[in-house]
Amino acid sequence: MIRIFIPLDAGAVAVGADEVAAAFAQVAEARQLEIEIVRTGSRGLYWLEPMVELAAPEGRVAFGPVTEADVASVLDAMIHTSDHALRLGVADEIPWLKRQTRLTFVRCGVVDPRSVESYRAHDGYKGLERALTLGSAGILADVSASGLRGRGGAGFPTGIKWKTVADTQADRKFIVCNADEGDSGTFADRMIMEGDPFVVIEGMTIAGIAVGATRGYIYIRSEYPHAIIAMEQAIKAAKRTGFLGNSICGSAHAFDIEVRVGAGAYVCGEETSLLESLEGRRGIVRAKPPLPAHKGLFGKPTVINNVLSFAAIPFILNDGAKAYAEFGMGRSRGTMPIQLAGNIKFGGLFEVAFGITLGELIDDVGGGTFTGRPVRAVQVGGPLGAYFPRELFDTPFDYEAFAKRDGLIGHGGIVVFDDSVDMSKQARFAMEFCAIESCGKCTPCRIGSTRGVETIDKIRRGERVAENKVVLEDLCHTLKFGSLCALGGFTSYPVMSALKHFPEDFGAVPTRLQAAE
Ligand SMILES: Cc1cc2nc3c(=O)[nH]c(=O)nc-3n(C[C@H](O)[C@H](O)[C@H](O)COP(=O)(O)O)c2cc1C
Ligand code: SF4
Repeated sequence: MIRIFIPLDAGAVAVGADEVAAAFAQVAEARQLEIEIVRTGSRGLYWLEPMVELAAPEGRVAFGPVTEADVASVLDAMIHTSDHALRLGVADEIPWLKRQTRLTFVRCGVVDPRSVESYRAHDGYKGLERALTLGSAGILADVSASGLRGRGGAGFPTGIKWKTVADTQADRKFIVCNADEGDSGTFADRMIMEGDPFVVIEGMTIAGIAVGATRGYIYIRSEYPHAIIAMEQAIKAAKRTGFLGNSICGSAHAFDIEVRVGAGAYVCGEETSLLESLEGRRGIVRAKPPLPAHKGLFGKPTVINNVLSFAAIPFILNDGAKAYAEFGMGRSRGTMPIQLAGNIKFGGLFEVAFGITLGELIDDVGGGTFTGRPVRAVQVGGPLGAYFPRELFDTPFDYEAFAKRDGLIGHGGIVVFDDSVDMSKQARFAMEFCAIESCGKCTPCRIGSTRGVETIDKIRRGERVAENKVVLEDLCHTLKFGSLCALGGFTSYPVMSALKHFPEDFGAVPTRLQAAE
């Protein structure tokens, strides 16, 4: 029996993984070969997708990127262990994968995401088993000791958030998983939901036990149909096997999860706006206080965390807080699943301990630009993140180091641009994004972003450039300090960083082009 693993990850499916799987089945049938095709998540080496793996005595042997036309010859090479141009060797030994520290993504691309048994065979649910023996106080102590900070953007300590909810008295409490993943260049939430959904369920269940909540919701953006299906199937399987329901693993703890689908607003990723949306209203930001930890969903104490924050929990509970905290630098402990995107040669998911520099990530891991032209700018942390020039590539991936340089890590997305980029256009895009996505609750963001677009347009047309740059800076200051939430507040980062690091692009004829003429 030949066992083949083919991703069903949306990124792999987009480049033909379903057709490749069908072709394997067809060729095998025509040759009367017995094969088993297991659909997995992606390993995150997207330039090699569809990457197909064969179960072999030395480990899983990978081939990629495989097209339908390659299937017959790849199957031959698999059967006869003969050479093939697409043979990549043992998957775990591929240098790009081997140099990572996969704690959260250790099973992604390996297990069958539809099978609880497959998850359990790879250490799944061991964290929950330990959590049940520890009880609330023990879990909270472990999560705090791990140093885990929220992976959704703000980097708030998860242990403190959970303890606040645990300490708040109420008849009902909720766990909410934020899977809105709206940041540009990010896909880690989607990948883990499609490739290892049980780790998210396990993390949420442990959170429920820790704070005394019996119900959880996963809020997934509607643009993620594959992830929605994967999570719904996994929830059903967990219920069937007693890992969700009235008695978790036969214990006195009850916990259940429901998937809710968003309707496509970036601001619905902001936690209070998300809660409004979950309650059936338009996604408008709520003023804080009260914090969601005190008064969240339906007015009850609520833990709201990013997908990756929950997905880090099973490792922390199973391997210990110390094992997690050993990785990282400064106050940024553990690993970060970094997403390399945009104009980059080797784009994909790279999980690594905090501390790696931006330059190592772009030049070394990412291999520079896809176009082969020099890298000019990178935006880290989504549409509200700063643009960094090459001079800042020595910045280590660490919350504080980025903040010191007026940047942010956000959800770990990096978007790369080559030297053909016009940074005044990027600044305009940031303002326009804010204007389009603004929930409208506060004036600096609702009105200021539109005035910002107009001002950048004037600068780009060469109208009173020096004065309009002052107006733009003033506007960014107002946005930064006068906005109710980070959508308006952080729009100043991409705009001001573009202005500061690439001043030559602002004006009717960018000075760097003048110099080239
Ligand atoms: C405009 C805006 C959009 C956001 N989008 C997301 C998102 O898509 N996913 C996410 O997890 N957090 C997002 N956040 C951060 C959340 O408000 C919140 O901090 C996070 O869900 C808390 O979880 P964590 O502590 O695990 O990071 C966004 C914040 C803002 C201001
Ligand atoms: S900053 Fe923008 S998105 Fe945030 S509350 Fe104000 S108007 Fe709404």
